[in-house]
Amino acid sequence: MAAKTMEELVALCKRRGFIYQSNEIYGGLQGLFDYGPLGVELKNNLKQSWWRSMVYERDDVEGLDASILTAPSVLKHSGHEDTFSDPLVDCRSCNSRWRADHLKELICPSCGSSDLTDPRPFNLMLKTNFGPIDDGSSFAYLRPETAQQTFINFKNVLDSTSRNLPFGIAQIGKAFRNEVTPRNFLFRVREFEIMELEFFVEPGTADHWHNFWVQNRIKWWSEQGIEKNKLDVYKVPDKDLAHYSESTIDLMYKFPHAVEELEGIANRTDFDLGSHTKNQSDLNIKAKVISNTNSNAKLAVQDKQTKEWKVPYVIEPAAGVERGVLAILNEAFKIEKLEGGKERTVLAFKPHLAPIKAAVIPLKRNNEELVQAATSLKRKLQSLSLGRVLLENSGNIGKSYRRHDEVGTPLCLTVDFQTLEDQTVTVRDRDTMGQERIHVEEAPAYVKEHIN
Ligand code: GAP
Repeated sequence: MAAKTMEELVALCKRRGFIYQSNEIYGGLQGLFDYGPLGVELKNNLKQSWWRSMVYERDDVEGLDASILTAPSVLKHSGHEDTFSDPLVDCRSCNSRWRADHLKELICPSCGSSDLTDPRPFNLMLKTNFGPIDDGSSFAYLRPETAQQTFINFKNVLDSTSRNLPFGIAQIGKAFRNEVTPRNFLFRVREFEIMELEFFVEPGTADHWHNFWVQNRIKWWSEQGIEKNKLDVYKVPDKDLAHYSESTIDLMYKFPHAVEELEGIANRTDFDLGSHTKNQSDLNIKAKVISNTNSNAKLAVQDKQTKEWKVPYVIEPAAGVERGVLAILNEAFKIEKLEGGKERTVLAFKPHLAPIKAAVIPLKRNNEELVQAATSLKRKLQSLSLGRVLLENSGNIGKSYRRHDEVGTPLCLTVDFQTLEDQTVTVRDRDTMGQERIHVEEAPAYVKEHIN
């Protein structure tokens, strides 16, 4: 399985309504994409699956949904104002801009000139005017990661839930980065969502939890359709670590353009909570924190027995939703040879991720009795709350099956004239193309079992 080229995926995504170029009718905005009717379902299903596994199925994680706009002080003390940058070079011949670390040679990929400026740091954070005065003095950042909002809410969550270490705070939300060269479809964009867990642990147990979360995340991705053998575990060399990290493991996936990072799992030590904490010198903070914070919070926990205050370490699994969607689309994509030399394109999604769970198809378009029976069955299946069930009133059964193979619908249920006599329908399986007849009364249980 997997697409041969990125173009193959891009074309399918546009044709079938998964993903469109953003602002396209005005020429498009680079590095932004919109999710169409099927894309929004796929993306929501992926996020729900992450939330289920991180929050509902665990007993030590709370959820959070914090604001996108972030006070400059937060991103000053997190280190982002000073260090969240990529090395930028300008081509003096054609004025294009490039990330120096992405160039194979010091030659402009656009015009071939070697007349490039020296690399200089280019901060990736986007900001916007904040409040009624528009003189540049009052601004907020659009957060570059959800993590900082989680850290500054640490005490709120702790006080309202009475948690003890270890425990985590999970957040899914938008992040913004003014990437120098957004490219490769959803892979590197300027507006995206991150699914991030900040897991707070006793300092001495950080290595154990780091390893735990690496294994946990590999297992989760395999449940989403990306098998263990498709992920490379890459230990980021010390010289490439982010400013907050003591150790990071990247899960690398073979995207259609290259093997690149799908998710990073970092040991952020006590850097972030320490950097946002007042009276830092009273606490035994191990990381080299950004000092003299103007925050009024003590982001630490008190040992019940010794009464000693300590700043927890943080293990952070952080996955991009866009990269997840891209990897899942790529894994699910296959072109199968059929008897008679024909081919079919299939998106073999795991059923819980499929944008449409089941399609109900009346054999003859606009035949009142068939459409009525199909509508009634559709409503019954929809009320199971498994996700979207579609009434497909196109009248061409062969075309409907092909369309639903191509968008990854696990089951199609066809209502025909026999249904009107004996209340049975044909169920067709996307993967095997096998068909069987079942009674409509059995359909909800059948669909439920198959989708779950
Ligand atoms: N809080 C940690 C953090 O933000 P990161 O490695 O910079 O770490 C986390 O980002 C994840 O977000 C990455 O593993 C990747 O999946 C995704 N990501 C980062 N930049 C992205 C971009 N420009 N476009 C799409 N996804 C991106």
